[in-house]
Amino acid sequence: MQLNLTTKNVQTDIEIILVINKQIKSDKNILKKLNFKANDEECVLLVEQKKIYVGCQDNKHDTIRLALSCAIKKLNNTGFKSAKIISNKYIRAIVDGLLLGCYTFNKYKSKKQKQIDKIIYIQAEKITKKNKNEFDEALNICEAVNMVRTMVNTAPDDFYPDIMAVEASNIARENQLECKIYDEEYLKKNGMSAMSAVGRASCHKSKLIHLTYRPINSKKRIVLVGKGLTYDSGGLSLKPSDFMVTMKSDKSGGCAVLGIMSVVSKLNLPFEIHGIVGAVENMIGGDAYKPDDVLIAKNGTTIEIRNTDAEGRLVLADCLCYAQDEIEDIDCILDFATLTGACVVGVGHYTSGVMGNNNQMNYQIVQSALDCGELATSLPFNRYLKKTINSKIADICNISSTRYGGAITAGMFLEHFIKDENKQKWAHIDIAGPAFVEEEWGYNPYGASGAGVRLAIEFIKNL
Ligand code: BES
Ligand code: ZN
Ligand code: ZN
Repeated sequence: MQLNLTTKNVQTDIEIILVINKQIKSDKNILKKLNFKANDEECVLLVEQKKIYVGCQDNKHDTIRLALSCAIKKLNNTGFKSAKIISNKYIRAIVDGLLLGCYTFNKYKSKKQKQIDKIIYIQAEKITKKNKNEFDEALNICEAVNMVRTMVNTAPDDFYPDIMAVEASNIARENQLECKIYDEEYLKKNGMSAMSAVGRASCHKSKLIHLTYRPINSKKRIVLVGKGLTYDSGGLSLKPSDFMVTMKSDKSGGCAVLGIMSVVSKLNLPFEIHGIVGAVENMIGGDAYKPDDVLIAKNGTTIEIRNTDAEGRLVLADCLCYAQDEIEDIDCILDFATLTGACVVGVGHYTSGVMGNNNQMNYQIVQSALDCGELATSLPFNRYLKKTINSKIADICNISSTRYGGAITAGMFLEHFIKDENKQKWAHIDIAGPAFVEEEWGYNPYGASGAGVRLAIEFIKNL
C-alpha cells in the first residue's frame, strides 16, 4: 500500500468516510435502507456513490484505528485502486488503522492472493510540521510493527537464533547501529550458564545480540532486553501438544526489541538506546538441562531448576546481568518477554503486564501503552510472593512454590538480577497475552501482533 498525506483534492476511486458518534451526514437514505447504524466495525461500500462508510461509536484514537482497519479490508476485497480519507485530525490513528489493519502473512501460501497495490491519500487542509511529523512517525512505527509480526510469524525451522542474528545485523546495517553478536563460547567464557543451559539441547546454537544506537548529544541511556526463544518446547518439562503450538511466538519480546531498534534512528530519538536479545531454542535431548540441575547465572546467583519450561527467566537473567555489566549509568532498563501463561490467565489475551519496583515508572509505561493503542496494566510485587521463589538448596528457584501469582513471581525472579543501583530504573513487561493473536481482535489479524513496539516507542519518546 502506498500512503500519502496531501492537501490536494485528489480524484480517487473511493472515498472512505468515518461516521463518528453516529452522525451520518450524507447518503442518509441509502444508508438507512442498508440498515447502516454506524456502529464500531460496521462498514458499507456504496459502489455508485464511490464511498465506503465506516462507523466509529466515539472519537477515541483506538476506535478510529479499528474503523480504518475495517475500511481498508473492505477496499482490499475490491478491484478499486485508490481511496482517500478527508481529515485534519487523527492522522496517527488513521495511519495505524490502515497499515496495521491490512497486514497479511502469506509466506507459506503456495498460491498468493493477488492484490492490487492500493494508493491511499489522507487529505488534510494544511500540511504543517506537526501533522507531517505525525504521519511520517506513524508510518515508520507501523512498518516496524509489521516487520516484527513477520519475524514472529515465521516458522521455527526458518527462524532460529542464527537467523535472528542475521536479521539483527541487517537492521543494524540499514540503520547505522552498532552490532555485536556473541555465540556459545562467549556465554560460557562470561559465566552466562543459565542462558547457555536453556539452549544446550538444540541443534541451533544460542546467540546473544547487542545493537546500539548512539546519537550525538544523547540525553539518556536506555536499555531494552528481549526474550528471544525462537521455540519453546518446554524442554524436558515438555509442554502438552496443545500448548506447544504457537510457541514460535516465544521470540516476540526479542523481535519487539529488534523492531524498536529498527526505528529509533528514523525517529531521531535523542537517547542512546541498547537492544539486547537472548536468542535461544528450548528443546529436548540427551544433553538437555534438567529439573534438579543447579545453574549459575552471570552475577553468581545459583538457580535451582524445577521446571525447564520456566526458561525465559533464565535467559533474561543472564541478559539482564550482561546489560548491567556492559553498560554503565543506565537511566532506564526495560525487558520484554512472553514470560508466563499466568499473565494471560490474570489479565486476559489483550493486555500486557507491567512489573517493577518503581510504581511511577510502571504507571508511565501503562499510560504510554494506552496512549498508543496497546493495552497494559500494572501488576504489583509483594514480599509474600517473593518468598515463594526461595530454594532449599540454591539461592533461588526458577519456579514458585505456589501456583498462584505466576506472572508476578516470574517478575520477581528477574528482579533478583537487577543491581541495586538499577532497581528503580527497571521494568518488566510480560507480553504473553497480546503477542500472539489466535482469534483476531481489533486491528490485529490472526498471528503475531507486534506487541511492545508501539508501547516502548511511546514511553521512550516521553522520557
Ligand atoms: N513461553 C512460556 C509462556 C507463555 C505461555 C507464553 C503462553 C505465551 C503463551 C514460558 O516459557 C512458560 O512456559 N512459562 C511457564 C512457567 C511455569 C512453568 C512456571 C508457564 O507459564 O506455564
Ligand atoms: Zn517455557
Ligand atoms: Zn517460554
